[in-house]
Amino acid sequence: MNVIRFKEINSTNTFLKEKYKSLENLTVVVAEHQTMGKGRLGRTWIDNDDLLFSILIKEGIENPTDYSLLIASVLLDVLGNYNPEVKWPNDIMIDEKKVCGILLEAVSLEKTECIVIGVGINVNTTSFPNNLLIKATSLKQIANQDINKDMLLNDIIKRFDIEYGKYLKNESNYLSNITKHFFLKNKEVTFYYQGKKCEGKVKGLSNSGELIVECNGNKIQLISGEVTLESVYNK
Ligand code: BTN
Repeated sequence: MNVIRFKEINSTNTFLKEKYKSLENLTVVVAEHQTMGKGRLGRTWIDNDDLLFSILIKEGIENPTDYSLLIASVLLDVLGNYNPEVKWPNDIMIDEKKVCGILLEAVSLEKTECIVIGVGINVNTTSFPNNLLIKATSLKQIANQDINKDMLLNDIIKRFDIEYGKYLKNESNYLSNITKHFFLKNKEVTFYYQGKKCEGKVKGLSNSGELIVECNGNKIQLISGEVTLESVYNK
């Protein structure tokens, strides 16, 4: 996979969305710092010695949301020693705290032109703003030592290349990998469904990666969005 490196950039996702036409499938952009790092749902991603990169996908883009779970499965494998779990659909958690966020974006004209998978991993971060203290952690905080970001990126890219090849051939087992390390399983969550705030218990993942939640005796499947753990964070 072709890797483009920046010391500073506005956002690795934005770069790929602007330049995708002239770049080959599986181009990776990595930056040491972003001046306009983007998080999900319009949030900003403020970095502090994080690993920040994006991967360009131009082939096999019929089901864009699959890629959040495919990259999450790759991160589960690469970060395996830290006992990571996936908080569906886009976060990797360790010790109940977020260590990595995924931002999937698409460029769509008449059809989808490309998908950009953006990943931010708290690697050597040691201080978080107060509002994130109980919610976030870094690999350094867990391992008690500095982590080599280049080596980590290499491992992720190598693994992604293999898993992407399997995914294109329908041979990837990413959903079962995620089911085995599924942070939300049996947790009570709050979410928005058809414009209404609902509460329910997470039952698992569907065959196509949707979240199954039981709410007042009904099973609801969520395609994407965000669920909040009332019990852990909001009380
Ligand atoms: C989230 O948890 O809200 C998603 C965060 C994604 C951040 C990464 S950092 C690299 C890439 N470029 C961006 O601007 N955002 C993603």
